[in-house]
Amino acid sequence: MEQIIQTLSWKNGFLEIVDQSRLPLEERHIKLFTVKQVYSAIKTLKIRGAPAIGLAASFGLFLAARQIKTKNKDQFFSLIQKNATYLKSCRPTAYNLFYGIDRLIEVVKQNIHLSMEEIIMTMEKECVKMFNEDLHSSVKISEFGEKLIRDGMKILTHCNAGALATSGIGTALAPVYLAAKRNKTVEVFVDETRPVLQGARLTMWELKKAGIKCTLICDNMAGFLMQQKNIDIVITGADRIARNGDTANKIGTYSVAVLARFHNIPFYVAAPMSTFDFSLSDGRGIPIEQRDKTEVEYIGGKRIAPADIDVYNPAFDITPANLITGFITEKGIFRPDEIENLTT
Ligand code: MRU
Repeated sequence: MEQIIQTLSWKNGFLEIVDQSRLPLEERHIKLFTVKQVYSAIKTLKIRGAPAIGLAASFGLFLAARQIKTKNKDQFFSLIQKNATYLKSCRPTAYNLFYGIDRLIEVVKQNIHLSMEEIIMTMEKECVKMFNEDLHSSVKISEFGEKLIRDGMKILTHCNAGALATSGIGTALAPVYLAAKRNKTVEVFVDETRPVLQGARLTMWELKKAGIKCTLICDNMAGFLMQQKNIDIVITGADRIARNGDTANKIGTYSVAVLARFHNIPFYVAAPMSTFDFSLSDGRGIPIEQRDKTEVEYIGGKRIAPADIDVYNPAFDITPANLITGFITEKGIFRPDEIENLTT
């Protein structure tokens, strides 16, 4: 399937990304040359979505490694770890970030006997490998997930788990793209996803670009749509999945899952294995990123609430495993109680 948008690409020396904070008004590509630039791009949501964050952070660590001047291996390794900690502090919820960084550190450890130039080369190779693995995951997710989509289905999604969130065609939206390619009639209802509107700005943008029938709704409209029998299936992405299947995803996902259960609508989570944190027995251990209050107080740069107020702005919530029908992964579709076995 052809790529909808090249969200990030490695240009042999720098990382090029689409600045998602400017979408849908402007499609601007920016170049990142340093670890600080990568950190800031992730923090300010220029690049976002768990798999894309993981890949960008990994290339960020490689960019940092390239700048290290010392010839002393111990010093080199401790500077790598310092930069890894810095990058990991950027957005604490998406597990893919930790997965990518830890894989790179492992590669450095395994190759520490090589020359500095060779170690750095192996880091670059590992980043490119992870990029390609993510691309491949989205293809497999599209193939497994497409079987769940019948002709004429109306699909609800939350936030953006499409091409803009991965190196490929996405997670939650990947099955939709394939279903449409196979000539199934599909319609996607898109939660706007306050506070920063990834649904309205990003999901609508990429679905429209791909020619998929899509309808934007405010977050508080999903229940009414379900009650009117206008949603057949819900598919969302994930930022971190614990061993029991508890799932962190964009704030509001839990509410959608509760609504789906009440209305007997299947609720699927699509994610690559790099999103599964097998070290956590359940969702209570997942760190929830708290973001700046201005995201809630302003829309499009315009203040919508009085000044000097208290604001609560968690970026993610946890959907308990018992509300999730299944996980669409590159290895197949699994019930929550099957997740644990994937580790062994
Ligand atoms: O804050 P964001 O935009 O990074 O949040 C993104 C989400 O919650 C996505 O649904 C999730 O990362 C899955 S992306 C394939």
